[in-house]
Amino acid sequence: MTARRADPRHRRRHRPAGGLSRRLPGRAALGAGGTLAAVPTLLIVHHTPSPATAEMFDAVLRGATDPEITGVDVVRRAALAATASDLLAADGVILGTPANIGYMSGALKHFFDQVYYPVLDGTRGLPYGAFVHGNLGTEGAVRAVESIADGLGWRRVAATVQVAGSPGMPDLRACWELGATVAASLMS
Ligand SMILES: Cc1cc2nc3c(=O)[nH]c(=O)nc-3n(C[C@H](O)[C@H](O)[C@H](O)COP(=O)(O)O)c2cc1C
Repeated sequence: MTARRADPRHRRRHRPAGGLSRRLPGRAALGAGGTLAAVPTLLIVHHTPSPATAEMFDAVLRGATDPEITGVDVVRRAALAATASDLLAADGVILGTPANIGYMSGALKHFFDQVYYPVLDGTRGLPYGAFVHGNLGTEGAVRAVESIADGLGWRRVAATVQVAGSPGMPDLRACWELGATVAASLMS
């Protein structure tokens, strides 16, 4: 966290004016010297309609909430329910989707469509990771997610996890690592 904050490339530029400009009240913890410090929030935005994708999501969540990861709040939102306010209140994000017709799911695309402009100036440098499940070919969906994240100026802090077919132990381990890596990047 210290390195991330110290590096100006990773700082938020500013939050947009108006109702979305203020960070939502989050949890606070006693920091060094007894001062109150905001607890960083990891947001997981996912569309997980099938058991296979849900298994990946569960593994990501287990990694992000591992007991060794301390001082990070993990918030999960279904892609159709996630909002710009959720993103503006987050310090990092993980995106999960199936590959559908060579692209991310309509639900995750809808999420990006509705948040893109409201968060454009307020989330630059946001650390992110992603996982994609498919059966035929996940490249198009991965490319789409990473292109939009690039457009928003987000910073990928872990390799995108792509799984075709039924997830095996190594796949679920990679999902666990994804959750743990993004969450650990928010620890102070
Ligand atoms: C309309 C539709 C389009 C799909 N297109 C793709 C695709 O382009 N690439 C791919 O790898 N899988 C594709 N799939 C498979 C889904 O990614 C897969 O069903 C999903 O990840 C859930 O996995 P499961 O069906 O094995 O549980 C498609 C599924 C549907 C229903």
